[in-house]
Amino acid sequence: MDTRALRSCFGRFATGVTVVTYAVGGERYGITVNAFTSVSLDPPLLLVSIDRRAKACSKLEGTPFAVNILSAEQQDVALHFAGRPQEALVLQWEEGEVAPRLGGVLAWIECVPWRAYDGGDHVLYLGKITNFHYRDGQPLIFYTGTFTHLPTVVEGSP
Ligand SMILES: Cc1cc2nc3c(=O)[nH]c(=O)nc-3n(C[C@H](O)[C@H](O)[C@H](O)COP(=O)(O)O)c2cc1C
Repeated sequence: MDTRALRSCFGRFATGVTVVTYAVGGERYGITVNAFTSVSLDPPLLLVSIDRRAKACSKLEGTPFAVNILSAEQQDVALHFAGRPQEALVLQWEEGEVAPRLGGVLAWIECVPWRAYDGGDHVLYLGKITNFHYRDGQPLIFYTGTFTHLPTVVEGSP
């Protein structure tokens, strides 16, 4: 199979952008992730898919984490946690109940580890949600390998 073409195919699915944050040994870390999905309301579960080559992959094993849903203004945050450190960026870390979180996000969801599943060259981490918060605003969108924003909402849409 042509994996480059498959990646482009997957890229036709427009997503939001999140940063998964966690702490190990008193140090705070994050990884930019668009492979995030809601899973279950009862019990409350979510899923993130992490590349086995990422440093985050082994560190997330048995570790509480937070999913931070980025706002349209947080492209620099997305790049920073995708291996492109942004010198001008001042990170706003917040202490969560079970994991560190980022400030200025559209929503955050804190989780404790639930299950981890083999996802081929990725690991699927399911978290059980302990607390969450959201606000109104515009999300950062990832589509065909580029960041974009939502168009204006059309009056009368469902
Ligand atoms: C928009 C965007 C979405 C990404 N989504 C994922 C993802 O869902 N899973 C993943 O493992 N890596 C994803 N990445 C790549 C990681 O963020 C990147 O490899 C990161 O540097 C890994 O960090 P670490 O090795 O410090 O854990 C994404 C990158 C970008 C820019």
